[in-house]
Amino acid sequence: MRSKIIVTGGCGYIGSHTVIELIENDFEVVILDDLSNSTEKTLERINKITGVTPEFIKLDLKNSLETNKVFNEHKYASGVIHFAAHKAVGESVEQPLKYYKNNLYSLLNTLEAQSVNGINNFIFSSSATVYGTPDILPITEKNKTQRPFSPYGNTKKVAEEILDDFTKSNKAFSAISLRYFNPIGAHESGKIGELPNGIPNNLMPYITQTAAGIREKLMVYGNDYPTKDGTPIRDYIHVVDLAKAHVIAVKRLLKKEQETTLEFFNLGTGVGYSVLDVINTFETVTNSKLNYEITKRRDGDVPQLYASTDLAKNKLDWSANKKLDDMISSSWAWEQNLRNKT
Ligand code: WQD
Repeated sequence: MRSKIIVTGGCGYIGSHTVIELIENDFEVVILDDLSNSTEKTLERINKITGVTPEFIKLDLKNSLETNKVFNEHKYASGVIHFAAHKAVGESVEQPLKYYKNNLYSLLNTLEAQSVNGINNFIFSSSATVYGTPDILPITEKNKTQRPFSPYGNTKKVAEEILDDFTKSNKAFSAISLRYFNPIGAHESGKIGELPNGIPNNLMPYITQTAAGIREKLMVYGNDYPTKDGTPIRDYIHVVDLAKAHVIAVKRLLKKEQETTLEFFNLGTGVGYSVLDVINTFETVTNSKLNYEITKRRDGDVPQLYASTDLAKNKLDWSANKKLDDMISSSWAWEQNLRNKT
């Protein structure tokens, strides 16, 4: 009998890549998604890659009655991976209540529906943004979390605090919070990838859309940071490496290997690259020149963020193995594939 995993936000960028890895690891998947920042077309793309179309339920997790009804219909699921959240940093600054309501109501309703229906394993999509401006690098899970600059980031930090209280009050319930650094790249098939609504906030999709002629030029937000070339450093990780870590985390809970009822793991490569490193690698990989201009800093950006990957290596026996050029070439292949289709 295959174990069933409910994936909220499973039509999204990281969610869909994780659904593929779950299917390829012989899990049955049910996707819950409100399609606010994704498309149902992702389901046929998942089928093209795996031959399987996962069950899909369009659901707004802010609706507690509907959420509980759906979870009751799937009460024999073994666990939940919770991706569903708004994630645009800039938009969250302009519309904080939209972010607190959506991201926290969705989490609370999911946890309550799981608890009521006896689904006691939970994987949370968190972010390195909970570390704020790190005082120690590389960042370990023991680094104290700080109030993130953006409401988006704070919904991740508050969510982890809710998980801490909930797992303490409900010993039958186990959770793993996965703190992503900077996910980029796309599935090797070129059939799924990042699909930002509107103007991309993140560096990689902005680069590929500039190279595809959709954006006129990339603005590099500042080159006066205390780094080797003045541009900020981030720990970019291939989305497929990230997806594989989710499957390992699910198996850890299903096999009851967790050491505490709430665990945290950084998901990064441990290697930091600057914005100019990414641009230069893109130009080399695509043998093209990217149109960019150095402008002023973006509020909230920190100079450097990169992960210590020891805990995930030691406890999950997982480490990222895809390199920056592979991340970039897969992003570019997806962008080209996307444009050919439209
Ligand atoms: C990376 C670097 C920018 C765009 C955020 C969230 C994090 C995670 C990933 C949400 C920075 C520079 C960017 C541009 C630029 N979750 N940049 N021009 O800010 O590290 O992390 O997204 O998806 O939780 O905090 O990622 O890709 O926005 O920026 O110069 O047009 O690229 O200044 O140094 P970030 P990013």
